Amino acid sequence: MTDYNESYSQYKEYFENALNAFLNKLKCRPEKLEESLKYSLQLGGKRLRPVLMLAVGELLGVEREKLTNFAVALELIHTYSLIHDDLPEMDNDDFRRGKPSNHKVFGTGHAVLAGDGLLNTAYSVLLDECFKGNEYISAAKYICECAGIKGMIAGQSADLIHENDEKVNEETLNFIYENKTAKLLMAAVVVPSILCGGKYYTELKAFGRELGFLFQLTDDILDVEGSFENLGKSVGKDADEGKYTGVRLYGLDASKIRADLLADRCEGLLEGFDGDTAFLTALVSRVRQRIQ
Ligand code: IPE
Ligand code: IPE
Ligand code: MG
Ligand code: MG
Ligand code: MG
Repeated sequence: MTDYNESYSQYKEYFENALNAFLNKLKCRPEKLEESLKYSLQLGGKRLRPVLMLAVGELLGVEREKLTNFAVALELIHTYSLIHDDLPEMDNDDFRRGKPSNHKVFGTGHAVLAGDGLLNTAYSVLLDECFKGNEYISAAKYICECAGIKGMIAGQSADLIHENDEKVNEETLNFIYENKTAKLLMAAVVVPSILCGGKYYTELKAFGRELGFLFQLTDDILDVEGSFENLGKSVGKDADEGKYTGVRLYGLDASKIRADLLADRCEGLLEGFDGDTAFLTALVSRVRQRIQ
């Protein structure tokens, strides 16, 4: 097996080259708007969603070129969600990806516009794909659903509504996790399936969902136990803001046990796939290991 880190870097590099080529062509006025759009995208980030999309594409035998624009659109949507997530009226976070958050550099008004601009640009990218055929339309539509009012936006809405709730229950936490986080990971792994006629559609949807839960639970744990140096964002914020987190519901120790169970479930689902799933299995365990 090729080394996990090397494979991750290769997927990431392929994606970042495509993203940079896209950004080089992205010109708009006023200059401040263009700068604010590019600022958050070029700060870096793990590029987990594009990497997942490319890796699942490889597993299913989908050419990278077919996935590239979908991966760009998804990262644009994810980055917009982070810019808005950090706003003072949402999570009020001053740092993202190791640098001042978009609103700290460009002001709140422009951070709203940068997020809107990234979302709008993503839809334009997706619409361009729709001219290529029916499966492209279905893939674009799937991303829209995952990002929209029955997806990430619904999760973010519930996350805000339930801030400072006295009691936390599992049903509400699951709704928040599934929508604010898991939906975009589901989009990443389901798009390659849609583009090759629906192979492993149901199984990949289930995998994306479990991985999303694992990812958000580890994010919640890292907010308690992680460091700014490793995460590139402030820690201890969830407690400050009264967030509805896994740590609040289960406690820290039980959250870690639950993360193990979620990782096992992800790995179990991967065992049902033909082909080389070593990279995806290692990715699951890396997500889990972030909290060790
Ligand atoms: C952060 O996502 C938001 C959550 C869903 C917890 P990532 O941890 O993937 O953020 P970047 O893209 O690496 O900055
Ligand atoms: C964010 O969850 C999910 C998004 C849709 C952006 P968090 O609010 O926990 O993400 P971080 O910790 O700020 O990255
Ligand atoms: Mg949030
Ligand atoms: Mg946040
Ligand atoms: Mg968090």
